[in-house]
Amino acid sequence: MPVQWTNDLAVGITEIDDQHKELFRRINDLLEAADRGKDRGEIDKFVAFLQNHLVTHFATEEKYMLRYGYPHYTRHKARHTLFIMHFTGMKRGNPIASIAQYTTDWLLDHIDKADKALGAFLTSIQTKKAA
Ligand SMILES: [Fe+2]
Repeated sequence: MPVQWTNDLAVGITEIDDQHKELFRRINDLLEAADRGKDRGEIDKFVAFLQNHLVTHFATEEKYMLRYGYPHYTRHKARHTLFIMHFTGMKRGNPIASIAQYTTDWLLDHIDKADKALGAFLTSIQTKKAA
């Protein structure tokens, strides 16, 4: 089942929201490649592509956290690190549907519990600056 970014997932920072949308597109591309019966070598490229995007995305968020002195930086970064560890372990030998589902579930939960808090913090700083 393709995943869809919807407005209720917005964190309010365009660069982060755009990357979240892109991640969902990558997950869908991966699922589509698996559906089309691509061989594992080909599919592994989509998995690697998704992982690269995840790593880049986490680095973007962490860059914002450091730049603006986010108080929950350590905890938030630890969640990213832990996820990449799980993802790396999971991508070996698990069906694509499971990898995609795990990534989707984690992202939805993480956006809701961690990224929205970061977005609110960054938005409040920008609002203060503009005032
Ligand atoms: Fe995050």
